[in-house]
Parts: sequence; C-alpha cells; structure tokens
Amino acid sequence: MRTNLDQLKDEALTTIAGAGTPEVLEAARVHYLGRKGIFSQRMKELSQLATGKRKTTGQILNAAKNEVAAALKNKGQALKESRVGEGTWLDVTLPGKKPLTGHLHPITQTIYEIENIFHKLGFVRRRYPEVETDWYAFESLNMPQNHPARDEWETFYINDKTVITPHTSNGQVREMEQFGSPVRMINISRCGRRQSDLSHIPTFYQFEGLVVDQGINITHLKGTLDFFVREYFGKERAYRLRPTDFRFTEPSFEVDVTCGLCGGKGCRYCKAGWSELGGAGMVHPQVLKNGNLDPKNVAGFAFGWGVERVFMMRENLNIPDIRVLYQNDLRFLEQF
Ligand code: PHE
Repeated sequence: MRTNLDQLKDEALTTIAGAGTPEVLEAARVHYLGRKGIFSQRMKELSQLATGKRKTTGQILNAAKNEVAAALKNKGQALKESRVGEGTWLDVTLPGKKPLTGHLHPITQTIYEIENIFHKLGFVRRRYPEVETDWYAFESLNMPQNHPARDEWETFYINDKTVITPHTSNGQVREMEQFGSPVRMINISRCGRRQSDLSHIPTFYQFEGLVVDQGINITHLKGTLDFFVREYFGKERAYRLRPTDFRFTEPSFEVDVTCGLCGGKGCRYCKAGWSELGGAGMVHPQVLKNGNLDPKNVAGFAFGWGVERVFMMRENLNIPDIRVLYQNDLRFLEQF
C-alpha cells in the first residue's frame, strides 16, 4: 500500500518537474522544504509517534526529503542552462579564439620552392612512378642486371623486375620517350633506399633536372646549378663539382655545397665542411638512344639531388639528423 509519504513525495517531484521558471521552482522549494514547509511539519509530527514507528517513519521521511532536494537542485541547474544567452551581455569586441590551423610539412614546402626556382628557368614539373620497372630504374641507364654499379643504390626490390625507385633518374628515359626533344623537366618524386643514418633515410625525395636539346653543353649545366644554388641558398654559399662516374652521364660529377650547419668549418654532419647534395652530368649517348633520341643530333644534361639534403643545408637550420624530419614531432614541425 502506498503511504501518505509516497504521495507527498510524488506530488513534490511532479511540481518540481513542471516548474517552468526559477520563481515557480523557488515557490515549490519554500512550500516543501522551507522552514515552515510540509517536510518540516512532518518532522515535528514524528514526536507523536511511538518509538519503534518513529524510527522507521523518520528514515522514510528523510529519504523522501533528500530525493526532493536533489530534484530541486537538478531542475534549478537545468533552468539556468536553458537561459544562457537570454539577457546576458556579449562583448563583440573581444578578440576571437584562433582556430588551430596546420601547415604544409617543411619538405613539401621545399618541394614547392624548388619547383618555383626551376619554373623561372622554364622547367616543367613532372612526377614518374615510385614503383618502377627494372628497365627505367637501371637497365635503360646503362646498368644491366648484375652490373656492380647497382650496388650504390641499395635498392628495395618488389620482385625481380620491379623496384621502389632508388632515384628520380627513372624519369629520364620516360620523359624522352613521351615528349621527345626538346626537354626541360624537373621530376620531384619519392625514392627509397636501404639506408639509415644521420644523412640517409629509407624514404626520401629527389629532384631531377633533365634538359635535352640541340647544342646543349656543360656550360648550360653549370649555369643552371649556379642559378639554383644562388636562389635557394643565397649568393654567399659556394658549391663544387667533383668528378665521379655514373653509368648514365659522361662526364659525371658529384655536387657539394658548403655546409650550412658549420659554415664550412667541418662538423659531425658534413665532416670536412662540404655536404653532398647529389649528382650531375651530361646525358650518356646510350641513354638518349634508349629514349628514342639521336645523340648525333641532340645532347643533354641531368642532375639529381636530395630534397631533404638541400633543406637541411639551409643556413642556420641546424638539423643534425635527417631522420627528425619524418618523426612527426609537432615541437619540431611547428617551427616551419
Ligand atoms: N641518380 C643519381 C643518384 O641518385 C644522381 C644523378 C642524377 C646523377 C642525374 C647524374 C645525373 O645518385
């Protein structure tokens, strides 16, 4: 059987739930829980009951009172929230909260900068496959299967005839095949090699310039490198060409720039004051032939450098380990 107290509690809870304004709610509070309210009266009446009954009724009464008090509190809060904005004052001159915005990765930024510099010389940006056939990555560049020169490239093989391209030179013959002569392209793509240390990382980017036309000679190569070094590093920096051999260029050079970490004095990264950026040379006649061009008619030059390396050789950057570029640590990335 429902007691009188249950009825009282239900009635109080219904009144509270139905209160539409703080004023009505306050009236309900006074009515039920006020000093002279119904619950106080019931408390007083307890003294008239017999001792045993007094205890149990007291407990029930207290529990009901607590429940009503909690409902009052919740309803009060709910009414307050539903009124936010109503009658409150908004200062429209307060500075807004800045939304968090990201930015391009420093290497992506560098790729765009490189692209823009070569754009000024009329180079067209290209991309060629990152997963490449053995032919374009090696054989068409005078490195047949089992040629020892391949060892230089520490290649990831997908199968016998497919590799992750270890350099952007894979685009040379593809470009000639596709467009013939003249060619003036800058191929910037991802490459892979099985290497990891301060100046090597298994996944990296290269930019490959290729120019083919009638009458191209080594002064055009030199002028192009001069222009890039001046635009990207500034006119204070020097670079040098060291003779070397690549199977796909003749003559061939290794290109070094004065180290931007130590200013050319020699440090842990560069060792002797020069940092290697990549290779360059005059396109080998056989490579022109592989691209369906006639070496009696046209000549070309090519160079392939590391994007991360040129970025790291920027003055005052002081990045002593190439691998931090790809650790995705925001404390590092947010600085660029
Ligand atoms: N592909 C060579 C490398 O990755 C660099 C290079 C490019 C050399 C073009 C000569 C001409 O080391």
